[in-house]
Amino acid sequence: MGLLDGKVALITGAARGIGKAIALKFAEEGADVAFTDLVINEAAEQTVAELEAFGHKVKAYASNAASFEETHAVVEEIQKEFGRIDILVNNAGITKDGLMLRMSEQQWDAVLTVNLKSAFNFIHALTPVMARQRSGCIISMSSVVGVSGNAGQCNYSASKAGLIGLTKSIAKEMGPRGIRANCIAPGFIISDMTAALPDDVREQWVKTIPLRRGGTPEDVAKVALFLASDLSAYVSGQVIHCCGGMNC
Ligand code: NAI
Repeated sequence: MGLLDGKVALITGAARGIGKAIALKFAEEGADVAFTDLVINEAAEQTVAELEAFGHKVKAYASNAASFEETHAVVEEIQKEFGRIDILVNNAGITKDGLMLRMSEQQWDAVLTVNLKSAFNFIHALTPVMARQRSGCIISMSSVVGVSGNAGQCNYSASKAGLIGLTKSIAKEMGPRGIRANCIAPGFIISDMTAALPDDVREQWVKTIPLRRGGTPEDVAKVALFLASDLSAYVSGQVIHCCGGMNC
């Protein structure tokens, strides 16, 4: 018996990194998995193959989470293919870091659109489905910097703080229809996103972590499993930090 037997999960930006780890954890626990990414390349096909090994239904969709139209179209397609959608994980995200003095409008808009508007797009497309089912679970990938702020990341921090406000509002608005909404706030997680940071910045981050290591995508996936399953049946509107004690 898996914790997610019979559930259908939709995870955005799951070809690699944290999204992929969540998809694998959910499939391991019995869920059928639909995931999106910008393109379905070799890495995405590899993710599909790894997911299929668990013996449940799996399909990858090329879809830009920042696009309202593409999101509504892909949600409709997934619903037709899978019959229902029980769990949404808003995971797709990007960084375009820079100090405010040098930040361009394009850097601001790109990060806010991919990280925050994408969650609006998916929640907007899915709430009618979940409301009809009278159940649903929404998890959005915020960040510790959405709570604490971070120099050089005003766009990213604002987008991640926005996800918290969105989540808390949806928890209040949709709770009476049986829909739960929560955020995960990861700290420093080892993935392609953080691999792009210069070595000295990465070392500096690790020194600020009481557990003295970067997190793994699997560390985050375990929190996602808790939030997606009935283990958290009475948890909604919360932000669970997964950060090795950083920023407590
Ligand atoms: P990653 O860069 O390894 O993976 C992000 C995935 O999202 C990629 O597969 C990418 O192609 C996809 N993606 C990007 N833009 C997209 C779009 N417009 N539409 C659909 N897919 C898109 O990043 P990682 O580290 O796995 O991060 C996943 C989430 O966790 C992001 O939201 C990130 O902001 C958040 N996060 C990551 C932390 C870290 O330390 N790695 C810390 C806190 C939050």
